[in-house]
Amino acid sequence: MNLVFSGQKISLNLGDSTVLDDLNFEISAGEKVGLIGSSGAGKSTLLSLLNGQWQPTTGELKIWDKSFAKLKGKRRRKIQRQIGTIYQQLHLVDSLAVVHNVNAGNLGRWSFPKAAFSLIFPLEQKLVQKALEQVGIPEKMFAKTSELSGGQKQRVALARVLIQDPEIILADEPISSLDPQLSRDMMDLLVELCDRRGKTLVISLHSLEFAKSHCDRLIG
Ligand SMILES: Nc1ncnc2c1ncn2[C@@H]1O[C@H](COP(=O)(O)OP(=O)(O)OP(=O)(O)O)[C@@H](O)[C@H]1O
Ligand SMILES: [Mg+2]
Repeated sequence: MNLVFSGQKISLNLGDSTVLDDLNFEISAGEKVGLIGSSGAGKSTLLSLLNGQWQPTTGELKIWDKSFAKLKGKRRRKIQRQIGTIYQQLHLVDSLAVVHNVNAGNLGRWSFPKAAFSLIFPLEQKLVQKALEQVGIPEKMFAKTSELSGGQKQRVALARVLIQDPEIILADEPISSLDPQLSRDMMDLLVELCDRRGKTLVISLHSLEFAKSHCDRLIG
């Protein structure tokens, strides 16, 4: 099987506390893995470890069979471009129009001048429009992000990942502000995207029901 992540005896200390302790896991290409756990269990922290934001205090995390900690510079950036994260706090720039926040999914491949130009004359508008259609808010392309509801913002964060088009999607409670129907639509969209394109999904969820119905496997 084609392993995407392999964690061996991983622990992570933040400040004085041990947030993750002796974690062992393997995640294969194309798998959809749900993270389930009570508040404070370490779901967001584990996702931050998988995208390279944190490094294990002890143990080793491998991505595509390479030690994540040993990846530096260009090689690290190349791998990190293939990881798209939907953060629990979304990390959108509220003062910008939606189109710019979605286009942020392109930043990994755009040069600085191109990115700066796009802030004045938004580029790739057709692709942004398509991504916003997929998440059900095409009419919000030029709306100011601060004027969207929580659920609409979550959909902007998902559209940004659609634009990035990474091999691995890490989603941290991406449906927490959505009503039941929208939650189902969003989960269907994520799963369909991953199944169709062979992407790997690691998703933290509070709903055991969705975790069971939409994931291949759960990590608790
Ligand atoms: N930067 C940090 N420094 C110190 N402790 C941290 C830091 N980030 C998280 N923690 C601690 O790590 C633990 C796990 O936090 P984490 O955010 O991963 O939980 P979670 O499972 O995502 O919770 P929730 O369901 O509420 O989002 C918590 O006890 C938290 O206080
Ligand atoms: Mg969390």
